[in-house]
Amino acid sequence: MMLFKTIKFKLTLWYVVILGIILSSFSFFLYFTLADSLYTGVDNKIKTMAEIVVSSARSPFGAGTSITDLDQIMTERFGIRPLGRFIQILDESGKVGGRSTNLRDMQIPISVQTLTAASKGKTTFETVQVMGKYPLRVVTMPITENERMVGIVQVGSSLEGVEEALHELLIILLIAVPAALLFASAGGLFLANKALRPVDEITQIARRIGSGDLNQRIRIKRVNDELGRLASTFNEMIAKLERSFRQVRRFTADASHELKTPLTILRGEVEVGLKKKRGMKEYQRILASNLEEISRMSRIVDDLLTLSRADMGELTMVHEEIKLSSLAREVWEDLQILAQGKGVQLNFMDDGFTTVEGDPLFLRQLILNLTENGLKYTPSGGKVQLKVEGDRDQGVVRIFVSDTGVGISQKDLKRVFDRFFRVDQARSRETGGTGLGLSICQWIVHAHEGQIAVESKVGKGSTFTVTLPLKD
Ligand SMILES: Nc1ncnc2c1ncn2[C@@H]1O[C@H](COP(=O)(O)OP(=O)(O)OP(=O)(O)O)[C@@H](O)[C@H]1O
Ligand SMILES: [Mg+2]
Repeated sequence: MMLFKTIKFKLTLWYVVILGIILSSFSFFLYFTLADSLYTGVDNKIKTMAEIVVSSARSPFGAGTSITDLDQIMTERFGIRPLGRFIQILDESGKVGGRSTNLRDMQIPISVQTLTAASKGKTTFETVQVMGKYPLRVVTMPITENERMVGIVQVGSSLEGVEEALHELLIILLIAVPAALLFASAGGLFLANKALRPVDEITQIARRIGSGDLNQRIRIKRVNDELGRLASTFNEMIAKLERSFRQVRRFTADASHELKTPLTILRGEVEVGLKKKRGMKEYQRILASNLEEISRMSRIVDDLLTLSRADMGELTMVHEEIKLSSLAREVWEDLQILAQGKGVQLNFMDDGFTTVEGDPLFLRQLILNLTENGLKYTPSGGKVQLKVEGDRDQGVVRIFVSDTGVGISQKDLKRVFDRFFRVDQARSRETGGTGLGLSICQWIVHAHEGQIAVESKVGKGSTFTVTLPLKD
């Protein structure tokens, strides 16, 4: 029952039906064209013979043409006496005057209509049953003299050869066409089965993936056909799914881990504080330390919230015209105290027309994150430079944040924008980073249809470049 619903069955059925129609039309055409040409061939031959007999009968010495003469004429004209042809000559009243020897004592019958037609000078073709099982094709042609019928010539030819040939052809067609269809359906089913096998494989693998096994891939044998392309698209899709599943899992694990550390510290401090009565100063110190951990956790939670809402497309961007140089200058001013505290020189430069369209809060956060990183990863005595520059020719505004700090190795460069990625996990607690800052930067830049890139040399420093479309 299921087989009737499969594509391979339907394909084969269509194929066989169409082939059946083609083969039967072809057979019909073949049979009837051949029959027509064979019958016409017989008619032409007996007609030619009759014409010869008529013309020799009309010749001066032809009036009393005898049978031996007839046979002789035939031999003369056709080389050998044609087999299976019967000749009969009648007088004007329809009485038999002479016959070819092969007729022996038989007669070719002549009907009244034919006789009348002959008397009017007309030639008639008929198929008659005289002897044996095969019919005789007969032409009746008048011999005329001065427009008056003086006799009649009848030439007959057995249709045995024609009928036998046609019968044989019919039998061959009746066997060959169904046999061909049978072979075609077997072959068609085999081919359809073979061609559609990858589809079954895809279905099975999709089922396995549905039950949670994302390691599965379809083995692709023929890359360039339709199914090969389907399979490779499918594989790419699974690979993407697998990657994002893994990312989500890692993200959750990392997030819990990041929150666990400050919580453990907080808990330890509170437990120690509660062990015995302490002085006011001591409590203040513990609470101040608690506050530090709490702010750290709030920052992590804020960042996580920003990223997850960004992922879900829930963050709405304001579209305002913003002069980036002013925004950057504010950030620069705000960070002066931090820079001085670290003993790092923080410079600011701006150049040209730097208006962009975007969200001032997010763009501020972008510049702040990048500059903070510069300060964070530059030891005292170093330099950090923030530069905003408009490029009218290219229609962009560029923000450069360069530092003379620790730098990032080539292998880590690609990963700095990953969530929770930190080059030095151990040192990060001192610097207070969670590794979310650059992920947020990247998201902000992409949301503003811009690009972010980084160049760095270990021990020499790094430069982050943001390119945003210029608004004019
Ligand atoms: N200017 C820089 N110089 C050297 N390393 C850098 C610089 N900026 C970023 N990094 C490296 O890239 C990592 C990821 O940066 P990111 O800003 O995302 O996180 P973070 O600064 O550690 O934490 P957060 O910004 O979330 O507080 C950093 O931990 C640091 O190792
Ligand atoms: Mg950072």
